[in-house]
Amino acid sequence: MSRLRHVVRAEQLVDPVLLDELFNSASTLERDDKARKLELPLRGRILATMFYEPSTRTRFSFEAAMQKLGGGVLTAENALDNSSASKGETIADTVRVVSGYADAIVLRHPQVGAAEAAAQASPVPIINAGDGAGEHPTQALIDVYTIRKELGRLEGLNIALVGDLKNGRTIHSLLPFLRHAPGISLTLISPPQLRLPGKYVRMLQEADTRFAETTRLARVQPADVVYVTRVQRERFASEAEYDAVKDSYRIDLHVADSLKARSIILHALPRTTEISPEVDQDARAAYFRQARNGLYVRMALLKYLMS
Ligand code: NCD
Repeated sequence: MSRLRHVVRAEQLVDPVLLDELFNSASTLERDDKARKLELPLRGRILATMFYEPSTRTRFSFEAAMQKLGGGVLTAENALDNSSASKGETIADTVRVVSGYADAIVLRHPQVGAAEAAAQASPVPIINAGDGAGEHPTQALIDVYTIRKELGRLEGLNIALVGDLKNGRTIHSLLPFLRHAPGISLTLISPPQLRLPGKYVRMLQEADTRFAETTRLARVQPADVVYVTRVQRERFASEAEYDAVKDSYRIDLHVADSLKARSIILHALPRTTEISPEVDQDARAAYFRQARNGLYVRMALLKYLMS
């Protein structure tokens, strides 16, 4: 596989050699960081983070990752209001200009396809940090890294995906990684309104991935990984439609207790009501460890793309 330039879709990252390289690099970076022995391979380089949608951990973890590698950061938070987008500039023009100041650009945008458009216009690497209800490939990379770190493998696992499978971009990016794993079986749990879009269902069918769709949360019980998502309020046409499904599922202590002892619960965060705070104390609750892994996986990715 040739060296990646932009990271726009998860499918681009689905390569065993590349994944091993990135994941080994992430663990080495974690070890060196903990031993306070990090080298600074990105000294003198600049990362721009342009966020046209809210974010805490994605932007902070990219910025922390860049700084830990010795680089600098230019940041546009709330870029829809605070950048030239408010004057009507296209994303292609903005990216062309920003690429004159920065060596890579992390972009989050409400429109599906925005990162692709930016990549076409940009001479420096574009990293898609979420394009509307489209994709969020670096989150999926973190999710796969976390599953491998916690359970040692992806092969043969039973993975339940719970919640807003229609709008959850982390799910859309996770599926390309899961669909080819030998012996994997997926349980897609959502209300009827939030089912996985046909495009992704077909992607699973084409790869002969074993999967079942259901509305019943009780089906999480045999799962090795329970991947919970937030109902994506910002994608609904009306508050009434959101209200009708917002409290569909809740992983509480009772549900957590019904899971296998060696299972894990993941969530890209932020959560609303879909996982009760009491569950955080359970060893199976891996979502804060998952968020922490984000730092090292993003360091590995920046190092790969920028050095
Ligand atoms: C996710 C996102 O932005 O898609 N969050 C994140 O990047 N950690 C999930 C979400 O917002 O529900």
